[in-house]
Amino acid sequence: MLRAFSSRLCAVWGREPESWRYGGRPRPQGLTLPEIPIAMLRTHTCGELRAEHIGQTVTLCGWMQRTRDKGAILWIDLRDRYGLTQVTLEGGIESDALLETARQLGREFVLQVTGKVTERYSKNDKIPTGAIEIRPEKVEVLNPAKLPPFLIEDETDGGDDLRMKYRYLDLRRTPVRNNLMLRHKMAQAVRRYLDGQEFIEVETPVLIKSTPEGARDFVVPSRMNPGEFYALPQSPQTFKQLLMVSGFDRYFQIVKCFRDEDLRADRQPEFTQIDCEMAFVTQEDILDMFEGLVRYLFKEIKNLDFPSVPRMTYADAMRDYGNDKPDTRFEMKFANLTETVKGQNFPVFDSAELVLGINAATCAAYTRKQIDELTEWVKRPQIGATGLVYARVEADGSVKSSVDKFYSQDELQKWRAAFDANPGDLLLLLAGPEAKTRKAMSELRLEMGRRLGLRDPNTFSPLWVIDFPLLEFSEEEGRHFAMHHPFTSPKPEDLALLDNPATIGQTRANAYDLVINGVEVGGGSIRIHDRAVQARMFSLLGFTPEEAQAQFGFLLDAFEYGAPPHGGLAFGFDRLCSLFGGSDSIRDFIAFPKNNSGRDVMIDSPSPIADAQLKELSIATAVVAK
Ligand code: AMO
Repeated sequence: MLRAFSSRLCAVWGREPESWRYGGRPRPQGLTLPEIPIAMLRTHTCGELRAEHIGQTVTLCGWMQRTRDKGAILWIDLRDRYGLTQVTLEGGIESDALLETARQLGREFVLQVTGKVTERYSKNDKIPTGAIEIRPEKVEVLNPAKLPPFLIEDETDGGDDLRMKYRYLDLRRTPVRNNLMLRHKMAQAVRRYLDGQEFIEVETPVLIKSTPEGARDFVVPSRMNPGEFYALPQSPQTFKQLLMVSGFDRYFQIVKCFRDEDLRADRQPEFTQIDCEMAFVTQEDILDMFEGLVRYLFKEIKNLDFPSVPRMTYADAMRDYGNDKPDTRFEMKFANLTETVKGQNFPVFDSAELVLGINAATCAAYTRKQIDELTEWVKRPQIGATGLVYARVEADGSVKSSVDKFYSQDELQKWRAAFDANPGDLLLLLAGPEAKTRKAMSELRLEMGRRLGLRDPNTFSPLWVIDFPLLEFSEEEGRHFAMHHPFTSPKPEDLALLDNPATIGQTRANAYDLVINGVEVGGGSIRIHDRAVQARMFSLLGFTPEEAQAQFGFLLDAFEYGAPPHGGLAFGFDRLCSLFGGSDSIRDFIAFPKNNSGRDVMIDSPSPIADAQLKELSIATAVVAK
């Protein structure tokens, strides 16, 4: 058996012309590895046997997924990472002792089965091994198992919490494992592409320094430096810039980042970036390089030819979609009706800072009940609108609205013209303060897109959003923040705007995001590489020169030793995987994710630590809630 497996390994490693299937694709050619005698307990995997193996005696190992016992005949589904093979025992053919052993088996027992591959009487064309079955000579229990707390099958009866607690069992399920296989294949393809483009993979430290910008840091106390803390990196931003100063020219890293922020379906406290940086480049070079990466991934992983990625300025995205990451799988652009609707004594519109509308094409047949439900939907606190005005375009072209008593047909026809609406269309209007209305309308647009089936997860609509503002003003803190990060370069043509407090906010940055289907999958910028400009930026962000030196002196100093012009980008790798896998939740693509409270319920973390450990770290026990 061992010899058989070892000769198969030779084939795997390219010494014999036999092809090896790897995730459904041939393993890369030219891979030569040393022959290592591995004491495998099996000759084949559970996903491998086909009609051509009929007549061979094989040994399989795996988990017993389920048995079906019809008295005279008993079937066992044996599962491993590669698939499922049916083992069949029949009274009068297999021995009574063997049948008896098989009847004692429980779900998830670990088995080694030796037997003959035979043709199945009734074939199952839903699984690749469906043409054959194993008639066993020997069934050995390698390890019994407790009854698992949920069904380990494609469709499970386990709720989210239970599956997270027993994540190692959930990971046995094919759909969950497939997500991680996809992630693996994507990571390999990313490395192939970037290696092929001369990028060097460099690891940067995980124990770094806390900085006041960005999200909250996770901090780690230093035993050797009492009262002092490391921070876990929110991204390797400054290190990758220093690598450019070091002359590495092209850097990448598939790297864990940590941010202590509120969690959502597309956010985890620790997540993975494909972090990249390039020297001697313009924004155009970077967009080309990473558009190339995404195109390569779509071709390699999904065999899709990705179109060239259109660009949209931040200003246009906000105007047309109320969002800096618009889902462009469907149009439904905003119409600004603020002026069109004023002056007809409808107080809601007359007093509104902004009145926006969308055209839910073909929805004029919505019933009163549907409209009422939609009105309640926009009034939910998460959406925040105070009400919804609607107008139907009737078959004869006339418009009927929910505010007919204020608007004549002539006025309503102006609405219709603003949308270029057709009979059968439903116009939905929201009014109120500018930012709030834009946000609510953006949510309503996405919801209508979803209800109308316009957000197919198998359609991909990419977009570069460019020309982000450099700074945003926080009313709460009374100061500007960097919209991307403090190392982002202003557009040279906008530099003068920084001199005047009235125009600072209009300064645009050389910053860009890659958005696919409304998901921000990546973002980056051209960086400042000049000490004086960087110092000025820190000053605009409210740092005194001393504070800037204390926090970022290493970077400012490095810029005095020949920093090349440089820029880069980071993809959210978990988001990219979930997009490719057709899911909204990045958790499905992370082996051991945290729940919405930032907890790992399997290992029960975070957890209190012993007083002695706290003391060693110079942390007063009184302040630590237990
Ligand atoms: P940024 O903060 O935009 O840029 O992050 C880059 C990408 O990382 C993903 N991302 C996340 N994914 C999951 N969970 C999170 N909590 C989370 N936060 C961010 C997003 C995002 O587009 N250093 C810069 C990049 C650069 O300028 O080169 C940075 O970190 O997909």
